[in-house]
Amino acid sequence: MRELVRPVVAGNWKMHKTISEARQLAAEIVSQAPALTMASIILIPPFTAIQEVKKTVGDSGILVGGQNLFWEEEGAFTGEISAHQLKEAGCDFVIIGHSERRQYFGETDETVSQKVLAARRHGLIPIVCVGENLEERKSGKTLKKIKVQLENSLFSLAEEEFKMVILAYEPIWAIGTGQNATPEQAEEVHGYIRQLIADRYSQDLSSCAIILYGGSVKPANSFSLIKEKDINGFLVGGASLSAESFLSIVKEANRVNEG
Ligand code: PGA
Repeated sequence: MRELVRPVVAGNWKMHKTISEARQLAAEIVSQAPALTMASIILIPPFTAIQEVKKTVGDSGILVGGQNLFWEEEGAFTGEISAHQLKEAGCDFVIIGHSERRQYFGETDETVSQKVLAARRHGLIPIVCVGENLEERKSGKTLKKIKVQLENSLFSLAEEEFKMVILAYEPIWAIGTGQNATPEQAEEVHGYIRQLIADRYSQDLSSCAIILYGGSVKPANSFSLIKEKDINGFLVGGASLSAESFLSIVKEANRVNEG
């Protein structure tokens, strides 16, 4: 995706923050972020706080996303939320296929594929997560897993639609564990994803694809990760829950633009 300023740093708040807590965190981020104009910042609160966060970020340039959606337009689907509802609440982005959704809520590459199409129908930019678990990494199946996930969930998209997707490589063993992938481990997978995109679509599309890394990103490890040539930003969980650590990550990520 060419339009977004890089690096892209997205904060996935997961099932944290009430409306008032979300307002406060967003306000702190807005008030301290203006000097950091060289990155795209996306805040991804729980559904209940999306509207409030959108109001709080106002015209600051900070963007807002949702954590999930259902692919139907509307109907008797208790507990679900549609792309249209997210859009109207103020989202421009939506996370799809996070490993926690796959692990606890039975999502598969096939449901990811349907969700991506629904997001695109409503102009939302999907942030699609892929990644291997510890056993797959230990047994040398990482790249194979990533390939299958991409082929089954995304590679049937037309080029024009694939262009509008952000990818996030999130090794499951690194999520919430404090143990991030090393820059070399992450770069190996990011480079591989870029190669797969080039093979399926084109070199041009591959080089402008945005591929985020996620999994225990912290201020202390973000610069070493962002220095890798195929890492374009981060999807941050735990460290996005305080303005201080989140903005430190944005600052560290920004250093790649400082020459
Ligand atoms: P974490 O989560 O930063 O807390 O490891 C990342 C994610 O789940 O996107």
